[in-house]
Amino acid sequence: MEGSPPERDVLLATKLQVPRSRPGLVPRRRLADRLEEGLNRGLVLVAAPAGYGKSVLLSEWVRGMTEPVAWLSLDGGDNDPVRFWRHVLAALDKVRPGIAGRVSPLAGPPAPPAYDSLVSALINEVAAEPDQPGVLLVLDDYHLISSDSVQASARFLLAHRPPQLRVVLASRSDPPLGLARYRGRGELGEVRAADLRFNLDEAAELLRQVSADLDLSIAAALAERTEGWAVGLQLAALSLRTQPDVARFVAAFTGSHRYVLDYLTEEVLSRQRQDLRDFLLETSVLDRLSGSLCNAVTGRDDSQGLLEEVDRSGLFVVQLDDVRGWWRYHHLFAGLLRTRLEQDPEHARRLHRNAAGWYQRQDLPDEAIRHPWRRAKRNGPPGWSKSTSTPSSACAASRPPSRPGCRRCPRTWFVPAPGCCWLRRKWQACAVTCGPWSRCWKRPSS
Ligand SMILES: Nc1ncnc2c1ncn2[C@@H]1O[C@H](COP(=O)(O)OP(=O)(O)O)[C@@H](O)[C@H]1O
Ligand SMILES: [Mg+2]
Repeated sequence: MEGSPPERDVLLATKLQVPRSRPGLVPRRRLADRLEEGLNRGLVLVAAPAGYGKSVLLSEWVRGMTEPVAWLSLDGGDNDPVRFWRHVLAALDKVRPGIAGRVSPLAGPPAPPAYDSLVSALINEVAAEPDQPGVLLVLDDYHLISSDSVQASARFLLAHRPPQLRVVLASRSDPPLGLARYRGRGELGEVRAADLRFNLDEAAELLRQVSADLDLSIAAALAERTEGWAVGLQLAALSLRTQPDVARFVAAFTGSHRYVLDYLTEEVLSRQRQDLRDFLLETSVLDRLSGSLCNAVTGRDDSQGLLEEVDRSGLFVVQLDDVRGWWRYHHLFAGLLRTRLEQDPEHARRLHRNAAGWYQRQDLPDEAIRHPWRRAKRNGPPGWSKSTSTPSSACAASRPPSRPGCRRCPRTWFVPAPGCCWLRRKWQACAVTCGPWSRCWKRPSS
């Protein structure tokens, strides 16, 4: 099958790699100092809404560290506790080689009923070698975790964290990890939106990357309008490039972040070529982008070049790895583009199906399944409740699939595995790639 193990490895590598630096980032020494101070307490929470510069701050900070850093960018798929802990172990394995090999078998199969033994083994491994330097574990985008099982095992990790393991969590919201207890004991460092806001000097520096001779009063007005919100400033900087009348532009946007973002996205998007705009919209169904995957989704053959063009123009993408050419859209852009794309649901469905097909060809059923799942969650598939947060929890509530097999999907997808969820998830993939939901999937009994 076309490059299956490497693609799997590359996808994992994109989650374990500290996001790439790029020229023009404004240094934020004051925040690095706060992080250092927080780190002495062993646990740091960086909590602020999207686009406040959490990931940039942390990635720039850890780049300058001598201590080994295990980085994991979480995504929705990490709500599966097996996957979550395998990924945490893979991240730790980069700085403590061998740890994944020794501890991962505890993740099954069969999947354990609870993860305390696995987490205990992980803790023992990290604590076992007191002469080795400590490890810093960074979990970015923790707000994407909603699974109780993952939260419970993460709580266990924090409660029994050895001094050799320090943890930084970046999240849009406060995670339900009992942090008040650590705060009360002075064992929690915190960086919040109010800290992350760009002050006037920082805002002026960011804007001057774009127009060197920008008047300080304009920078001050934009810093005020965006309330120091990093992505708002970045968007304003991008828009400024093409504004004939800067003062008028600055005066025109006011109001909430969402408004500013919509306004500026419109500004930025509407100035792109039609084909590039279509490309951005169509590929917004993807969590991660590569030339080959985008070609499969859009039916084009020039996606690699377009991705590079988007990257060069500093528009919407964050590069995920240096070697193989993977990117992702900034989450906020992706959200806006998807909302727009969903105005034509049939088109969106086709694109998701194309994406699922590509992942299927790479023998990555988990990824394939997430595409229809995300649409299903958003749009309500027949008989499935919108409150269901993951495929696993839906599986637990549903009846067996209506057909025992499918000739078009790889046979290995239908081998009964321990636990119903795994098997059912393969059925979802089958439903996506081979036909409508209703043919392969029965409605949950309610
Ligand atoms: N220090 C910085 N210098 C310049 N731009 C920044 C900086 N921090 C953030 N940004 C801009 O804000 C955007 C959002 O930052 P990011 O760290 O991804 O936010 P978050 O993780 O809070 O959602 C970045 O893509 C970048 O354009
Ligand atoms: Mg982030």
